[in-house]
Amino acid sequence: MKTKSKRPAVSIDLLMLSLVFLLTLLLLFTTSCKHEPQILPDKTTMTDNGSSGNGNGNGNQVSTCDPDSIYFQKTILPLLVSSCAKSGCHDALSHEDGIVLDNYQNIMNHGDIRPGNPGSSDLYEVITENDPDKIMPPPPFSALAQSDIDLIAAWISQGANNNNCSDGNCDSSNVTFSSGVNPILQSKCIGCHNNNLASGQVNLFGHANVNIYAQSGSLLGSITHANGYFPMPKGSPMLSDCEIALVRTWIRNGAPNN
Ligand code: HEC
Repeated sequence: MKTKSKRPAVSIDLLMLSLVFLLTLLLLFTTSCKHEPQILPDKTTMTDNGSSGNGNGNGNQVSTCDPDSIYFQKTILPLLVSSCAKSGCHDALSHEDGIVLDNYQNIMNHGDIRPGNPGSSDLYEVITENDPDKIMPPPPFSALAQSDIDLIAAWISQGANNNNCSDGNCDSSNVTFSSGVNPILQSKCIGCHNNNLASGQVNLFGHANVNIYAQSGSLLGSITHANGYFPMPKGSPMLSDCEIALVRTWIRNGAPNN
Protein backbone atom coordinates (compact mmCIF):
# COMPACT_ATOMS: atom_id res chain seq x y z
CA MET A 1 0.00 0.00 0.00
CA LYS A 2 1.33 3.29 -1.05
CA THR A 3 1.72 6.04 1.43
CA LYS A 4 2.61 9.62 0.79
CA SER A 5 5.41 9.41 3.32
CA LYS A 6 7.81 7.98 0.71
CA ARG A 7 7.82 11.02 -1.50
CA PRO A 8 9.71 13.38 0.73
CA ALA A 9 12.28 10.63 1.44
CA VAL A 10 13.02 10.31 -2.27
CA SER A 11 13.40 14.05 -2.66
CA ILE A 12 15.87 14.15 0.19
CA ASP A 13 17.82 11.32 -1.42
CA LEU A 14 17.84 13.19 -4.69
CA LEU A 15 18.84 16.36 -2.98
CA MET A 16 21.72 14.61 -1.22
CA LEU A 17 22.77 12.99 -4.46
CA SER A 18 22.87 16.25 -6.37
CA LEU A 19 24.70 17.90 -3.48
CA VAL A 20 27.37 15.20 -3.52
CA PHE A 21 27.53 15.54 -7.28
CA LEU A 22 27.96 19.29 -7.07
CA LEU A 23 30.59 18.99 -4.36
CA THR A 24 32.51 16.47 -6.44
CA LEU A 25 32.39 18.81 -9.40
CA LEU A 26 33.59 21.66 -7.23
CA LEU A 27 36.41 19.56 -5.82
CA LEU A 28 37.46 18.40 -9.28
CA PHE A 29 37.36 21.96 -10.52
CA THR A 30 39.45 23.43 -7.71
CA THR A 31 42.01 20.62 -7.64
CA SER A 32 42.43 20.76 -11.40
CA CYS A 33 43.08 24.48 -11.06
CA LYS A 34 45.98 23.78 -8.77
CA HIS A 35 47.67 21.80 -11.48
CA GLU A 36 47.61 24.65 -13.93
CA PRO A 37 51.11 26.02 -14.40
CA GLN A 38 51.52 29.25 -12.50
CA ILE A 39 52.13 32.16 -14.77
CA LEU A 40 54.68 34.35 -13.08
CA PRO A 41 55.28 37.91 -14.20
CA ASP A 42 58.36 38.13 -16.35
CA LYS A 43 60.82 40.10 -14.29
CA THR A 44 63.03 40.85 -17.23
CA THR A 45 60.30 42.55 -19.23
CA MET A 46 61.59 45.90 -20.33
CA THR A 47 59.58 49.04 -19.96
CA ASP A 48 60.07 51.84 -22.39
CA ASN A 49 58.54 54.65 -20.40
CA GLY A 50 61.63 56.12 -18.88
CA SER A 51 60.22 57.89 -15.87
CA SER A 52 57.88 55.43 -14.24
CA GLY A 53 58.25 51.66 -14.29
CA ASN A 54 56.90 49.57 -11.46
CA GLY A 55 58.27 49.46 -7.96
CA ASN A 56 59.90 46.07 -8.08
CA GLY A 57 60.97 45.73 -11.69
CA ASN A 58 64.38 46.20 -13.10
CA GLY A 59 63.65 49.66 -14.37
CA ASN A 60 64.13 50.92 -17.83
CA GLN A 61 66.87 48.76 -19.30
CA VAL A 62 69.20 50.42 -21.74
CA SER A 63 71.95 48.61 -23.55
CA THR A 64 75.04 50.41 -22.34
CA CYS A 65 75.78 52.72 -19.44
CA ASP A 66 76.13 56.40 -20.23
CA PRO A 67 78.93 57.70 -17.99
CA ASP A 68 77.03 60.95 -17.45
CA SER A 69 73.83 59.29 -16.26
CA ILE A 70 73.04 57.94 -12.80
CA TYR A 71 70.99 54.76 -12.88
CA PHE A 72 68.50 53.88 -10.16
CA GLN A 73 68.71 50.09 -10.32
CA LYS A 74 72.45 49.94 -10.86
CA THR A 75 73.59 52.55 -8.33
CA ILE A 76 70.92 54.25 -6.23
CA LEU A 77 68.86 51.26 -5.09
CA PRO A 78 71.85 49.21 -3.83
CA LEU A 79 73.17 52.30 -2.07
CA LEU A 80 69.87 53.05 -0.32
CA VAL A 81 69.16 49.41 0.51
CA SER A 82 72.52 48.91 2.18
CA SER A 83 72.47 52.29 3.95
CA CYS A 84 68.79 52.63 4.84
CA ALA A 85 66.71 49.51 4.18
CA LYS A 86 68.72 47.27 6.45
CA SER A 87 67.20 45.20 9.23
CA GLY A 88 65.97 47.35 12.13
CA CYS A 89 65.71 50.44 9.93
CA HIS A 90 63.74 50.98 6.73
CA ASP A 91 63.25 47.48 5.37
CA ALA A 92 59.66 46.26 4.89
CA LEU A 93 59.76 44.34 8.17
CA SER A 94 61.08 47.10 10.43
CA HIS A 95 59.58 50.13 8.61
CA GLU A 96 60.97 52.55 11.19
CA ASP A 97 58.66 55.62 11.33
CA GLY A 98 56.51 53.95 8.68
CA ILE A 99 59.26 54.51 6.12
CA VAL A 100 60.26 51.73 3.76
CA LEU A 101 63.07 52.33 1.29
CA ASP A 102 63.35 49.01 -0.47
CA ASN A 103 62.14 49.64 -4.01
CA TYR A 104 61.52 52.43 -6.50
CA GLN A 105 57.90 53.17 -5.61
CA ASN A 106 58.57 53.22 -1.87
CA ILE A 107 61.66 55.36 -2.25
CA MET A 108 59.79 57.87 -4.43
CA ASN A 109 56.82 58.04 -2.03
CA HIS A 110 58.37 57.68 1.41
CA GLY A 111 61.44 59.72 0.47
CA ASP A 112 59.14 62.37 -1.03
CA ILE A 113 61.40 62.64 -4.07
CA ARG A 114 60.76 65.68 -6.28
CA PRO A 115 62.22 64.77 -9.69
CA GLY A 116 64.59 67.49 -10.82
CA ASN A 117 64.77 69.07 -7.40
CA PRO A 118 66.98 67.41 -4.77
CA GLY A 119 66.75 70.42 -2.44
CA SER A 120 63.03 69.92 -1.86
CA SER A 121 63.17 66.12 -1.64
CA ASP A 122 62.91 64.78 1.93
CA LEU A 123 65.35 61.98 1.27
CA TYR A 124 68.08 64.38 0.20
CA GLU A 125 67.31 66.69 3.10
CA VAL A 126 67.79 64.02 5.79
CA ILE A 127 71.08 62.72 4.39
CA THR A 128 72.52 66.24 4.28
CA GLU A 129 71.05 67.36 7.63
CA ASN A 130 73.43 69.12 10.08
CA ASP A 131 71.34 68.40 13.17
CA PRO A 132 72.69 65.14 14.70
CA ASP A 133 69.16 64.32 15.92
CA LYS A 134 67.76 64.42 12.42
CA ILE A 135 70.53 63.18 10.14
CA MET A 136 70.11 59.83 8.36
CA PRO A 137 71.54 57.31 8.79
CA PRO A 138 71.45 58.16 12.53
CA PRO A 139 74.45 57.65 14.85
CA PRO A 140 76.22 55.28 15.48
CA PHE A 141 76.02 54.78 11.71
CA SER A 142 78.22 57.17 9.84
CA ALA A 143 76.72 59.73 7.47
CA LEU A 144 76.74 58.84 3.79
CA ALA A 145 79.98 59.62 1.98
CA GLN A 146 79.89 62.90 0.07
CA SER A 147 80.36 60.93 -3.16
CA ASP A 148 77.18 58.92 -2.37
CA ILE A 149 75.25 62.09 -1.54
CA ASP A 150 76.39 63.56 -4.85
CA LEU A 151 75.16 60.47 -6.70
CA ILE A 152 71.71 60.73 -5.10
CA ALA A 153 71.52 64.46 -5.86
CA ALA A 154 72.53 63.88 -9.48
CA TRP A 155 69.99 61.07 -9.88
CA ILE A 156 67.17 63.29 -8.57
CA SER A 157 68.34 66.21 -10.72
CA GLN A 158 68.30 63.96 -13.78
CA GLY A 159 64.62 63.18 -13.18
CA ALA A 160 64.71 60.43 -10.53
CA ASN A 161 63.90 57.77 -13.14
CA ASN A 162 63.57 54.05 -12.49
CA ASN A 163 66.32 53.37 -14.99
CA ASN A 164 68.99 50.74 -15.43
CA CYS A 165 71.88 49.93 -17.71
CA SER A 166 74.36 47.14 -18.24
CA ASP A 167 78.07 47.43 -18.73
CA GLY A 168 78.81 46.56 -22.32
CA ASN A 169 82.41 45.57 -21.96
CA CYS A 170 83.98 44.10 -18.92
CA ASP A 171 87.70 43.64 -18.61
CA SER A 172 88.61 41.72 -15.48
CA SER A 173 92.15 40.82 -16.57
CA ASN A 174 93.85 43.48 -14.46
CA VAL A 175 91.43 43.53 -11.56
CA THR A 176 92.74 44.75 -8.20
CA PHE A 177 91.18 44.87 -4.76
CA SER A 178 91.38 48.65 -4.44
CA SER A 179 90.09 49.65 -7.86
CA GLY A 180 87.93 46.67 -8.83
CA VAL A 181 86.51 44.72 -5.90
CA ASN A 182 86.42 47.17 -3.00
CA PRO A 183 84.37 49.86 -4.81
CA ILE A 184 81.66 47.25 -5.48
CA LEU A 185 81.63 46.21 -1.82
CA GLN A 186 81.62 49.83 -0.71
CA SER A 187 78.60 50.76 -2.77
CA LYS A 188 76.55 47.57 -2.44
CA CYS A 189 77.52 45.70 0.72
CA ILE A 190 79.31 47.79 3.31
CA GLY A 191 76.14 49.42 4.67
CA CYS A 192 75.13 46.05 6.16
CA HIS A 193 78.61 44.60 6.70
CA ASN A 194 80.77 47.12 8.58
CA ASN A 195 82.42 47.59 11.97
CA ASN A 196 79.19 48.83 13.59
CA LEU A 197 76.80 46.48 11.87
CA ALA A 198 78.12 43.11 10.78
CA SER A 199 74.93 41.47 9.44
CA GLY A 200 75.20 37.70 9.71
CA GLN A 201 78.49 38.32 11.61
CA VAL A 202 80.06 39.26 8.29
CA ASN A 203 82.24 42.38 8.20
CA LEU A 204 83.46 43.39 4.74
CA PHE A 205 85.43 46.45 5.79
CA GLY A 206 89.00 46.29 4.52
CA HIS A 207 91.01 43.62 2.77
CA ALA A 208 91.75 41.46 5.83
CA ASN A 209 88.06 40.98 6.53
CA VAL A 210 87.04 40.50 2.90
CA ASN A 211 89.82 37.94 2.45
CA ILE A 212 88.21 35.64 5.05
CA TYR A 213 85.06 35.32 2.92
CA ALA A 214 87.00 35.22 -0.34
CA GLN A 215 88.91 32.17 0.98
CA SER A 216 85.90 30.43 2.52
CA GLY A 217 83.92 30.60 -0.71
CA SER A 218 80.98 32.46 0.80
CA LEU A 219 81.78 35.76 -0.93
CA LEU A 220 81.48 34.26 -4.39
CA GLY A 221 78.76 31.82 -3.31
CA SER A 222 76.54 34.58 -1.98
CA ILE A 223 76.89 36.96 -4.94
CA THR A 224 76.37 34.19 -7.52
CA HIS A 225 73.33 32.97 -5.54
CA ALA A 226 74.90 29.50 -5.33
CA ASN A 227 73.10 26.76 -3.41
CA GLY A 228 73.81 26.78 0.30
CA TYR A 229 74.60 30.49 0.54
CA PHE A 230 72.41 33.44 1.43
CA PRO A 231 71.86 35.42 -1.80
CA MET A 232 73.56 38.84 -1.68
CA PRO A 233 73.25 41.78 -1.87
CA LYS A 234 70.23 41.21 0.34
CA GLY A 235 67.20 43.11 -0.91
CA SER A 236 68.90 44.45 -4.06
CA PRO A 237 69.18 43.14 -7.60
CA MET A 238 71.97 40.66 -8.20
CA LEU A 239 75.36 42.15 -9.08
CA SER A 240 75.94 42.53 -12.81
CA ASP A 241 77.80 39.81 -14.72
CA CYS A 242 80.70 42.21 -14.97
CA GLU A 243 80.88 42.84 -11.23
CA ILE A 244 80.69 39.11 -10.51
CA ALA A 245 83.43 38.47 -13.08
CA LEU A 246 85.68 41.02 -11.37
CA VAL A 247 85.22 39.41 -7.95
CA ARG A 248 85.63 35.89 -9.33
CA THR A 249 88.85 36.72 -11.18
CA TRP A 250 90.29 38.52 -8.15
CA ILE A 251 89.56 35.48 -5.93
CA ARG A 252 91.09 33.14 -8.54
CA ASN A 253 94.20 35.30 -8.50
CA GLY A 254 94.49 34.60 -4.77
CA ALA A 255 92.47 37.57 -3.47
CA PRO A 256 95.58 39.80 -3.21
CA ASN A 257 95.64 43.07 -1.30
CA ASN A 258 96.55 45.16 -4.33
C1 HEC B 1 70.52 45.06 3.40
C2 HEC B 1 71.62 44.45 4.11
C3 HEC B 1 72.62 43.63 3.34
C4 HEC B 1 73.30 43.97 2.18
C5 HEC B 1 73.13 45.20 1.32
C6 HEC B 1 74.23 42.91 1.95
N1 HEC B 1 74.12 41.95 2.92
FE1 HEC B 1 75.24 40.27 3.10
N2 HEC B 1 74.12 39.65 4.64
C7 HEC B 1 73.10 40.37 5.22
C8 HEC B 1 72.46 39.55 6.24
C9 HEC B 1 71.30 39.97 7.12
C10 HEC B 1 73.15 38.31 6.25
C11 HEC B 1 72.85 37.07 7.12
C12 HEC B 1 72.07 36.09 6.29
C13 HEC B 1 70.68 36.56 6.01
O1 HEC B 1 69.92 36.85 6.93
O2 HEC B 1 70.34 36.68 4.81
C14 HEC B 1 74.20 38.42 5.26
C15 HEC B 1 75.10 37.41 4.98
C16 HEC B 1 76.18 37.55 4.11
C17 HEC B 1 77.21 36.56 3.90
C18 HEC B 1 77.28 35.19 4.52
C19 HEC B 1 76.57 34.30 3.53
C20 HEC B 1 76.56 32.86 3.88
O3 HEC B 1 75.73 32.14 3.30
O4 HEC B 1 77.37 32.44 4.72
C21 HEC B 1 78.08 37.07 2.97
C22 HEC B 1 79.36 36.43 2.43
C23 HEC B 1 77.56 38.36 2.57
N3 HEC B 1 76.41 38.62 3.30
C24 HEC B 1 78.13 39.14 1.60
C25 HEC B 1 77.53 40.27 1.08
C26 HEC B 1 78.01 40.97 -0.09
C27 HEC B 1 79.24 40.58 -0.87
C28 HEC B 1 77.15 42.00 -0.29
C29 HEC B 1 77.21 43.02 -1.41
C30 HEC B 1 77.31 42.53 -2.75
C31 HEC B 1 76.14 41.97 0.74
N4 HEC B 1 76.40 40.89 1.55
C32 HEC B 1 75.13 42.90 0.88
C33 HEC B 1 72.70 41.65 4.90
C34 HEC B 1 73.14 42.35 3.78
